[in-house]
Amino acid sequence: MNTKIIGTGYDLPAFAADNNYLATLVDTSDEWIVERTGIRTRHLAKEETTTSMAVNASRQALERAGMQAEDVELLIVATISGDTETPSTACRVQAEIGANRAVAFDINAACSGFLYGMHVAEAFIRSGIYRNALVIGAETLSKLIDWTDRSTCVLFGDGAGAAVLAATEETGIISQSIGSNGEKWEVLECQGRPNGNPLCEKGQELKYMTMNGQEVFKFAVKTVPLCVEDAVEKAGIGLDEVKYFLLHQANKRIIQSVAKRLGQPEEKFPMNLDQCGNTSAASLPILLAQMDEQGLLQKGDRLVLSGFGAGLTWGACLLEWQK
Ligand code: ACO
Repeated sequence: MNTKIIGTGYDLPAFAADNNYLATLVDTSDEWIVERTGIRTRHLAKEETTTSMAVNASRQALERAGMQAEDVELLIVATISGDTETPSTACRVQAEIGANRAVAFDINAACSGFLYGMHVAEAFIRSGIYRNALVIGAETLSKLIDWTDRSTCVLFGDGAGAAVLAATEETGIISQSIGSNGEKWEVLECQGRPNGNPLCEKGQELKYMTMNGQEVFKFAVKTVPLCVEDAVEKAGIGLDEVKYFLLHQANKRIIQSVAKRLGQPEEKFPMNLDQCGNTSAASLPILLAQMDEQGLLQKGDRLVLSGFGAGLTWGACLLEWQK
């Protein structure tokens, strides 16, 4: 049994903070941020939460799929910024949308999380255990960021995207691969809550996200082309037969470099990072849903989704659009 996407949705916080606004917080400038990253603005949550954005994205995806929440069998949320340590964001979304028959859990694979979620969902559908899945990427990274650290705070944004996957006799997802390298975990990290049990030293601070930007950059431009080529080769097709390469929206220079390494024109690499920044696990499903909404995807189009992130983790998915 194959798997296809039958509905997409997304949600962004109402407040958009442009680079000039960030320049009032840290020593930076619109010029520096645009030149090094391509980012011009990003949405930051004020009232919104990871759960509320995931719920809105899910409702839109289900509506566009023509599916009722109570028919969802598997509900996966990819996130590193849930509103509660426990329960999972997936369980909270399940309750809010009324997906009362679904099994629900979170995946923590940072910016590769949505691709990990797609991979797990497809494996369940292919094996016949479930007939459909709601896969969501949702983040409120703004709460993990040190707003005095100019090297990270200019990069990230908040939002959520969702896709409804269903079993199909059509082609749908053609090949997928995901990977991890835990040896590099310190390159991009956010420490959790300090242990406050009576045996531990008191007064430890909550830590924020830290990143070795150049290491991440090198890793991304090396790994993404390899996993994209792998996904395409496995399918026995050429890169030229892919209509769009949707890459994790971290940095315009990374995307341009990947395009060059793959020998593909930049027009095949859609971007929304100028408006959304890096929304981690939400980045790919937001981009996909926006393209779907804009009518850019035609039945039969071959798409590659690929990303990379903390862990380190990465992944790629080649699919034939069947909506
Ligand atoms: N504004 C102005 N100056 C800045 C800023 C800023 N926001 N941030 C850093 N600088 C300064 C640095 O202090 C440094 O100054 P110095 O030369 O006086 O020491 C100078 O700019 C150059 O800093 P670099 O870190 O060398 O800048 P670089 O060209 O590497 O760009 C960047 C930094 C944009 C972070 C780049 O390394 C990058 O994009 N890396 C990939 C990051 C990424 O994609 N992360 C997320 C992926 S994983 C995930 O999505 C969770």
